[in-house]
Amino acid sequence: MKKKILGALLSVAMAATLLVGCGTNNASAPAEEKTEAATEEKAEAKEEAPAAEANGKKVGVAMPTQSSERWINDGGNMKKQLEALGYEVDLQYAEDDVQMQVSQIENMIASGVNCLVIASIDSSALVNVEAQAKEAGIPIIAYDRLLMDTDAVSYYATFDNKGVGTAIGKYIEEKKDLANTSETFTIEFFMGSPDDNNAHMLYAGLMEVLQPYLDNGTLVCKSGRTSFDDTCILRWSQETAQQNCENYLTGFYADEDLDICATAFDGFAYGCKAALEGAGYTEENWPMITGQDAELMATKNIISGKQTMSIYKDTRLLAEKCVTMVQAVLEGAEPEINDTEQYNNGKIVVPSYLCTPVAVDKDNYKEIIVDGGYYTEEQLAE
Ligand code: BGC
Repeated sequence: MKKKILGALLSVAMAATLLVGCGTNNASAPAEEKTEAATEEKAEAKEEAPAAEANGKKVGVAMPTQSSERWINDGGNMKKQLEALGYEVDLQYAEDDVQMQVSQIENMIASGVNCLVIASIDSSALVNVEAQAKEAGIPIIAYDRLLMDTDAVSYYATFDNKGVGTAIGKYIEEKKDLANTSETFTIEFFMGSPDDNNAHMLYAGLMEVLQPYLDNGTLVCKSGRTSFDDTCILRWSQETAQQNCENYLTGFYADEDLDICATAFDGFAYGCKAALEGAGYTEENWPMITGQDAELMATKNIISGKQTMSIYKDTRLLAEKCVTMVQAVLEGAEPEINDTEQYNNGKIVVPSYLCTPVAVDKDNYKEIIVDGGYYTEEQLAE
């Protein structure tokens, strides 16, 4: 009886925290293990760019945040590659503050940029400023995240976002041999920000693979939180992921271990890692933890066994594709496009280039990440 009351109390407390978690702009206190800020550019941009010609054109690059390493690399790669072509670059980060991003873009327009490249925080907040840009004859390229509900965007450079979800799902399916096993595995989900179209697509891809195993009982989600709405984490907050994981462990995994943390982002994987360590998990019962971005810290955690896998996204390649789009709108060149169907933003279908995401774990990180020149062995050993 006592146990029941305690359980009920815990569930109420947990529901309250989760509600707060999903509805808060959690740019607040830094978690113990923060994403390592990249102080130097990790990857050399391709050297084959044409010689710089001082064309006097200026490109405004609006990036979401420096709190996660990937965006630092994205911004660095874009700046480097555009400057190599002779463009002046105004690179701004908005630290996940939606209004700050609006002001930064307004300032870019006022300062006379010729083209805008935007990786949005909450693209619904950008509709007006995008209309202003269109009015002023400034073309916009969407970078990594689709710009929703606007006809002011010309092209979209990204990774195959549904493919990211499928790759995470297939990794879990294969490594746990879900199709053949007679075992059951417990699983909890940590999905991306509801204002980011990528998060929805990732979830769709992931569930395309995993839903049948939830339906037939091979995967058991003890919290019952499997829908996107129940598992999304506003602004991709690492702190909220940690809090959610702590709540799941206390509320539902007192008597049974959690086997799989299906997370959509390396930052979430760090949050889960901290929660699991706090709950006393060790090498013996450490769960499978997925992630996305193959950040330096995540790759180190993969090597040490604290994270199982991540999705490698070569930001050098993404920048390269995006730069061809900038050239297309400014110089009339032909951009490379490989998708003209999937990315309907509510107003138009945006011609897109989708780069291919690759699952990395301890077995292939050397070949993909080190041999690919993304990180050196020295960086990984630091
Ligand atoms: C990106 C991911 C990234 C996430 C959090 C998404 O829009 O596609 O690569 O992990 O944002 O920054």
